[in-house]
Parts: sequence; structure tokens; C-alpha cells
Amino acid sequence: MLIKRGGGFTSSEITDHRLYLGRRAFMAGAAALVLAPGGAPAAAPPAGQALTAQRNAALSLSEPPTTVESATTYNNFYEFGVNKEDPARLAGSLRPRPWSVQMDGLVAKPQRLDIEEILRLAPLEERVYALRCVEGWSMVIPWIGYPLAALLKRVEPTSQARFVELTTLLDPEQFPGQRKGLFNLGSLDWPYVEGLRLDEAMHPLTLLTVGMYGQVLPNQNGAPVRVVIPWKYGFKSAKSIVRIRLVAEQPKTAWEKAAPQEYGFYSNVNPAVDHPRWSQATERRIGEFRRRKTLPFNGHADQVASLYSGMDLKKQY
Ligand code: MTE
Repeated sequence: MLIKRGGGFTSSEITDHRLYLGRRAFMAGAAALVLAPGGAPAAAPPAGQALTAQRNAALSLSEPPTTVESATTYNNFYEFGVNKEDPARLAGSLRPRPWSVQMDGLVAKPQRLDIEEILRLAPLEERVYALRCVEGWSMVIPWIGYPLAALLKRVEPTSQARFVELTTLLDPEQFPGQRKGLFNLGSLDWPYVEGLRLDEAMHPLTLLTVGMYGQVLPNQNGAPVRVVIPWKYGFKSAKSIVRIRLVAEQPKTAWEKAAPQEYGFYSNVNPAVDHPRWSQATERRIGEFRRRKTLPFNGHADQVASLYSGMDLKKQY
């Protein structure tokens, strides 16, 4: 059972986002897994292709990374199902090539960029960031990518653009979790949509991410391209992105639509503001035994707190 793999999770850490779905929907999801067509688990994810990048030591944590096994087998990717082990087991159905990202909305130069072009757009860096999930666990991952700002500058946002909307692929053929029926009972309203204020999206820490652990992104971690915003809860980091749209109004995110009282737009890591179901004061690094104190902005307060000056972060959580 997954509890003992990758470093001994406790059962309380497995009470997660899926609780909002309600027990009935969850049980139906579990039944659907057993009854999946053919009954066979999908092919294993393709072996990672090497991706080299220079480490950006100044912007990296000096902690040792979580094991690659934990980072690739304990995932949240609801398009593959609501259980932590579903993405690793089922992600073989995602085809990360050919792939392109539509960039449009309030920009001077709307365009569709092929993934190969995206990979070459700016020098790849390795950055060790902690991904802090709102469920109370965290992992330290050597991500590979470059600032999202480099991609955004290329399309020239207009002066009306105030927010960036990020949309994941919608394709029930590749994502079993998006299929109508039992699999999708009580799940999110697809596609997965996330959003950032433009200044957050342009911040040098916000990473357009194409790899991890020296390899291209495994499917279950959001191949071929996702974002990582290290001072925000993990759900802000949308995976397998196909569209980046610049907009004037704050985008409605998938989690806000599903449970607005639980998931705010900003979702900055904040030990002083609890989630209705989980305290955010402490967290457990996967692989460690003792819980540790959660740091404001996940340890990046020096770099990002000024983005929120004048805001009441208890209200705008
Ligand atoms: N992106 C999509 N498209 N679908 C998802 O279900 N889950 C989010 C985020 N991005 C999710 C997603 C959540 S809740 C977390 S904690 C992180 O992905 C997990 O990223 P990881 O599996 O690479 O650790």
C-alpha cells in the first residue's frame, strides 16, 4: 500500500482534497477503478529523457530533495483520478507530443507556440523549490524550467491585462478522470483552470516548468509543461498546460468553482490562515518523521511579501 512507499505516510495525510467530493462519490470513483475497461492498469509512464540545466543556486533551497520515487508516485492530478497513486498508474495515456500552447487574450502578439519552441525560448535552469500542498505535506523537488515571464513577454501583454489564466488540456480520451460517468462523479468542472495576478506571473520565482530531477517532466507531474509558484499552495501549479490567456478580470479557478469557501484565489502559503479542514501551521516533508513549522510564503517572504502590501491576507486567502 502506498502508505509505506516513499517514506511512510500516515493515514491522516491521506485525508485529502477528495474529501470534499463526499464519501459517495469517492466510493464510486474507487469502484470505477476496479471496473475500468479491460480491468488493466494503463501502461507505465515513459522512461524520462535527460534534460540538462544549470542549477540556479541563489534561488534554490539547500535541503536534500525528496526521493524521485515519492515525487513521481504520490501525486495530485485529478484528471487521472482522485487517489494519490492514480496518476503514476494511469498517466501512460497522456501524449505529451505533439503539444502546443495557445497564448492569447489581452496581448499584442497572440500566438500558438509548439512545445519544442517553448523548450528553446530561454535557458533552462534547475531550481530546488518545496512544493507545499494544502493537505499538509510538502516535497523538495529540483524543477527545471525558466521564468514564466520570458514566455509572457514574448506575447506582449497589453496595459489592460491584469491576470493570467492557465488551462490544462481537456481530453477525456487521454485523461480518464475527465470521462463522463463514475470516474468523474463529483469531481472538478473540467478543464482545470488556475490563475495568477500578472505581477505574480511575471515574478522571477514563478517557473514555467518542463522537467524535474534532470529529466523531462513525467506525465504524472504535468508533462510536457506546467507552472510552479513556490510561495503558493501546490494546487496553483497547473499541469499539462495548453492555454495561457491574459485577462482583465480575476479568473475563476477550478477549485474555487468546486469549493469557494475552501480555496481562495491567492492561496499564498500562510501558517496563520487555516484551511477549513486542515491546519496550515505545520507540514510534513515527505520522507521525514517530524512535522515542521510552515513558513509564511513557504520561505519566500523576502522575495514576494511586497506583492501583497496593503492586502488583508486573512480575507484574501
Ligand atoms: N493540475 C491539474 N491539471 N490537475 C490537478 O489535479 N493538482 C494540483 C497541482 N496541479 C492538479 C494540478 C495539486 S492539488 C498539487 S498539490 C500539485 O499539482 C501536485 O503536483 P505534483 O504531483 O507534481 O507533486
